[in-house]
Amino acid sequence: NKGNYEHYMQKEIHEQPESLKTTMRGRLIRGGSCKAKTVLLGGLKDHFKTIRRSRRIVFIGCGTSYNAALAARPILEELSGVPVTMEIASDLLDRQGPIYREDTAVFVSQSGETADTLQALEYALENGALCVGITNTVGSAIARHTHCGVHINAGVEIGVASTKAYTSQIVVMAMLALAIGGDTISSQTRREAIIDGLFDLPNKVREVLNLDQEMKDLAKLLIAEQSLLVFGRGYNYATALEGALKVKEVALMHSEGMLAGEMKHGPLALVDENLPIIVIATRDSCFSKQQSVIQQLHARKGRVIVMCSKGDAVSVCPGGLGRVIEVPHVEDCLQPVINVVPLQLLAYHLTVLRGYNVDQPRNLAKSVTTQ
Ligand code: UD1
Ligand code: BG6
Repeated sequence: NKGNYEHYMQKEIHEQPESLKTTMRGRLIRGGSCKAKTVLLGGLKDHFKTIRRSRRIVFIGCGTSYNAALAARPILEELSGVPVTMEIASDLLDRQGPIYREDTAVFVSQSGETADTLQALEYALENGALCVGITNTVGSAIARHTHCGVHINAGVEIGVASTKAYTSQIVVMAMLALAIGGDTISSQTRREAIIDGLFDLPNKVREVLNLDQEMKDLAKLLIAEQSLLVFGRGYNYATALEGALKVKEVALMHSEGMLAGEMKHGPLALVDENLPIIVIATRDSCFSKQQSVIQQLHARKGRVIVMCSKGDAVSVCPGGLGRVIEVPHVEDCLQPVINVVPLQLLAYHLTVLRGYNVDQPRNLAKSVTTQ
């Protein structure tokens, strides 16, 4: 049931304040004056010790689910101190990459049925790793075959392009980072800021959804483009990949997400006055580096669209050069949840304006159960 919406993708983008709430329901504890704020993940509580002691955590997934894991990687590394590596499921299988008994392998999949991810799970089980599932589908193959896991509880997702599952996956992995991270005095302020940020996240997502019309206007400007680049780094490298994936898969427009730190090692050659480039430059420890990326693009007459934190339009676009998308500021590790929303809206409007099928893009399926 699409309710008042024209398409499922549109409905699912707009219901993210509610889906994030259900993802967090019963799992975040605010605590009284003497009780610390904590996270409860019932499906993992008997396994935290093993996860903390593992030699590394390996995230395994495909498509959007892989991108969600990539977005959560920095905070998991920071809070757990355990090295976190990333694997695209098919690539792990192609290489028969090493997986050890001392590893925790985390399988991220909205459907819980993706053949590549499922095969990688069988492979990790054979190699003796602790296998953890993060899925939206109770009773799915990944939920059944993993040793333990977390259901993201985002509600059924019908649009082939994943939107609300992505943001809920990131939130679950941020909660996982809080749950396995040591509760030391030095990390207490940071942990509390993240928990407060999680509580407030649905409100901030509601706020960023107000950019709907602005993103429709931007889509009108970009409707006939051949290509769109998205540059991100740090917490928002994943946002660049995911934004570009959305544009590619539904709007059928060539789009690439790129690590901004790699710009001068190749992509800079593409820059001219025609190719649109979205640069994600919201406030975090990478901000000044992104400012210099923007300067370099302007120096080459690049067609730059900057996503920045509210109030930063002047700092990112001196002299009013280029367009800006201003988004609410949240704790750095949660910023990817906010920043992806305007890109989801852009992909949605581009698709409708270009006259393509939003909910069932050409050649794609919601869950690919064959290899
Ligand atoms: C569970 C109940 C929820 C109830 C809550 C009350 C289910 C599905 N969930 O939620 O209805 O409100 O207790 O405390 O009955 N699992 C895997 N692999 C996965 C995902 C999950 O093995 O990929 C396992 C978990 O380890 C756990 C079980 O499935 O044993 C349920 O997981 P989850 O729904 O996340 O647990 P709770 O949030 O505790
Ligand atoms: C692809 C879908 O086939 O599978 C993507 O087109 C999706 O949108 C990917 O992200 C992974 O799916 P899942 O269900 O494993 O998260």
